[in-house]
Amino acid sequence: MDRMKVGVLISGRGSNLLALLEDCAKPDAPAAIALVVSNVPGAGGLEHAAAYDVPSTTIDHRSFGDRAAFERKVDAVLRNAGVDLICLAGFMRLLTADFVDGWRDRIINIHPSLLPAFKGLDTHARALAAGVRWTGCTVHFVRPEVDSGPIIVQAAVPVHFDDNADRLAARVLAAEHRCYPLALRLIAEGRTRIDGDRVLVDGIAPASHTAFNPNLPG
Ligand code: GRF
Repeated sequence: MDRMKVGVLISGRGSNLLALLEDCAKPDAPAAIALVVSNVPGAGGLEHAAAYDVPSTTIDHRSFGDRAAFERKVDAVLRNAGVDLICLAGFMRLLTADFVDGWRDRIINIHPSLLPAFKGLDTHARALAAGVRWTGCTVHFVRPEVDSGPIIVQAAVPVHFDDNADRLAARVLAAEHRCYPLALRLIAEGRTRIDGDRVLVDGIAPASHTAFNPNLPG
C-alpha cells in the first residue's frame, strides 16, 4: 500500500519532527515525510530533515505582504509535493481559517498540555501555578480556533512537587516524542474516524488503569 505523504511545518529545534522522521524511517511505517517547511531561516529542525534526506524549504513569513500571501505559498508547496496530511510541529505562526478549512481533517498539531486545559503559550509554568497533579500533551486535528479540535492521542505526565517549568517541559517533551508518531500511525493506517468533536480509534485498546498523584500509600 502507498504510504501517506506527510508535510511537517516547523519554526524551531524540531525535536518532534525528529521523532516523526525516526518513526517514518522504520520499514513498517504507514507514512512518509515528503516535505519539511520552516517559516524561520536556519531553524534547527531543517538539519534533521537533511540528515534523513527529506526535502525541506524555508518560507520566511517576513517576506510576504500579509498572512494570506504567506499561506498561499505554504499551501502551494505542500500541494506540489503531493502532501496528504500536514503535521504542525512547533510551528509558531497562527493559521487563518481559510488555510485550516482548506486542509480540514488533514492537519494535526501537538500541544504540550492535556487539552482543553492550558491552551496557548507557557503551558508548563501555568500548569505549575495552577497546582495540577497531572499535565501532558495532546495530538489533535486542527480547527480554526487556536489549540482546539478533535483529540487523537493524549499522554498524562505527573507533576512533581519540586518541578520547575524546564524540568516539567522535558518530561512532557519525552511523552510528545512518543505521542506524535503514534497519532500519525493511527491516521495513516486508517484507524481514526472523526465523529463530531471526537475521534474514534479502531483496533487499539484504551489505557486500562487509573493513576494517582501522589501515589496511593502502600
Ligand atoms: C513542543 O513542545 C510542541 O508541543 C509545541 O512546540 C514545541 C516544539 O518543540 N507545539 P520541537 O520544535 O518539536 O522540539
